[in-house]
Amino acid sequence: MDEVSSSNVTWHPGHVTRNERGQCLGARGATLWFTGLSGSGKSTVAASVEKCLILEGRGAYRLDGDNLRTGLNSDLGFSREARDENARRAAEVACLFADAGIVALVALISPYAESRARARLLHERAGLPFVEIYMAASIDLCATRDPKGLYAQVSTGTIGSFTGVDDPYEVPDAPDLVIEPGTSVDDAVGAVVAALVRVEEPGRPN
Ligand code: ADX
Repeated sequence: MDEVSSSNVTWHPGHVTRNERGQCLGARGATLWFTGLSGSGKSTVAASVEKCLILEGRGAYRLDGDNLRTGLNSDLGFSREARDENARRAAEVACLFADAGIVALVALISPYAESRARARLLHERAGLPFVEIYMAASIDLCATRDPKGLYAQVSTGTIGSFTGVDDPYEVPDAPDLVIEPGTSVDDAVGAVVAALVRVEEPGRPN
């Protein structure tokens, strides 16, 4: 795991357990990690899953790449190191939310398999459920959708190092769930919520 640069720090335990927090909220926390190209639907599906969970009375909160980059991650660009750091911070924050009893919905391109594996490991070590969801839309489809007009800018050379065009995206080897392009938002929400239930209640049939 990552080195801790600060010296002379000591973990200070609290007076409540995760279970006690969970009992207070009536639910356990978890992280749903959406990965895929820009325009693949990560933010759209994450926002709808968040709404679905909230309507069910569960705590949920989105950590969206574009949003985090206006605050916590506003100092980060799009180099490999910056994208790794972006994912590392999102994973740490998601872990805190999940520990607090909230379902954290991370919607980040997170192009590198290693950063996604690190996010999973962080959760496993903390004993928190982690679900990796791959939004499988191809670069051609995302460029056609171009919801933010960014692919058009890439093609005119205004934006460089764009994921899937001239920057890498490593397709997940073994995601917990794949959302195929063409899946309706409602169906995607149903599949994500079912995947969440599966990690929370292992052994429960699909
Ligand atoms: S990540 O690669 O570090 O995981 P993140 O999900 O935070 O990316 O942010 C991606 C968003 O930043 C895209 O949806 C897009 O709106 C914007 N963006 C701006 N420049 C780039 C770029 N060079 N590559 C990818 N996305 C970019």
